[in-house]
Amino acid sequence: MIRTAESDDLPAILALYPRAFAEEDLRPVVEALAKLPHGVLSLVAQADGGLAGHVMFTTCAAGQGGPAVGLLAPLCVAPERQRQGIGGQLVREGFARLAADGIAYVLVLGDPDYYGRFGFQQERRISTPYELPPEWSPGWQGQSLIEGFIPPVSTLDVPAPWRQPSLWLP
Ligand SMILES: CC(C)(COP(=O)(O)OP(=O)(O)OC[C@H]1O[C@@H](n2cnc3c(N)ncnc32)[C@H](O)[C@@H]1OP(=O)(O)O)[C@@H](O)C(=O)NCCC(=O)NCCS
Repeated sequence: MIRTAESDDLPAILALYPRAFAEEDLRPVVEALAKLPHGVLSLVAQADGGLAGHVMFTTCAAGQGGPAVGLLAPLCVAPERQRQGIGGQLVREGFARLAADGIAYVLVLGDPDYYGRFGFQQERRISTPYELPPEWSPGWQGQSLIEGFIPPVSTLDVPAPWRQPSLWLP
C-alpha cells in the first residue's frame, strides 16, 4: 500500500535509509525535506505493518520564477523487499500525484538503467544547481508528466535542503 507519509512515520523512514544506502547518509536531507512546510511529496510503501519503502518529490523551479518541476529523491526500498515492484509503485504513484497537482515535469539524478524504465531520458534543457562531473551526465534525467510540456532552458532552482554540493557530487 502506498500512502502519504505522516509526521510520525519519520523515525521509521530514517531507520530505512542506512539499511538501503550502505555508503551514503541521506538522513539529514530526508529530515530537512520532511520539515519543509510545503513543496515536498513524501510517500511510503507499507507492507506487513512496517515500512517497506519511501520516496520524496521536491517541487523546484525550472529557473528562478520558472515553471514548477518535481525532483525525485531520495528513493529507497528495504533490502529484504527489493525487486518486488515497490520502488516502481512509489515512483509511479508520485508521478500521478505530481501530474494531478499540475506539475508537468520530473527530474532525477540516478542510474539510467533503473530510471529509464519509467521513461526518463538524459536531461539536456534543465541544468543541475551544481555542475556534475561529465561521467554523471547520463544520470541526470527528466521526463514530461503532461504531454507536450517542454521545460525552458534553465538551471534548476532548488529549496535549501538541496543547496549542498555534496548531494550532487560523487
Ligand atoms: C533502487 C531501488 C529503489 C529499487 O527498488 P525496488 O523495489 O527493488 O525496484 P522494483 O522492484 O520496482 O524494480 C526492480 C528492478 O529494478 C532493477 N534494479 C534495482 N536496482 C537497480 C539499480 N541500482 N540499477 C539498475 N537496476 C536496478 C532490478 O534489477 C529489477 O529489475 P528486473 O525487474 O528487470 O529484475 C532499491 O533497490 C533500493 O532502495 N536500492 C538501494 C538504494 C538506491 O540505490 N536507491 C536509488 C537511488 S538513485
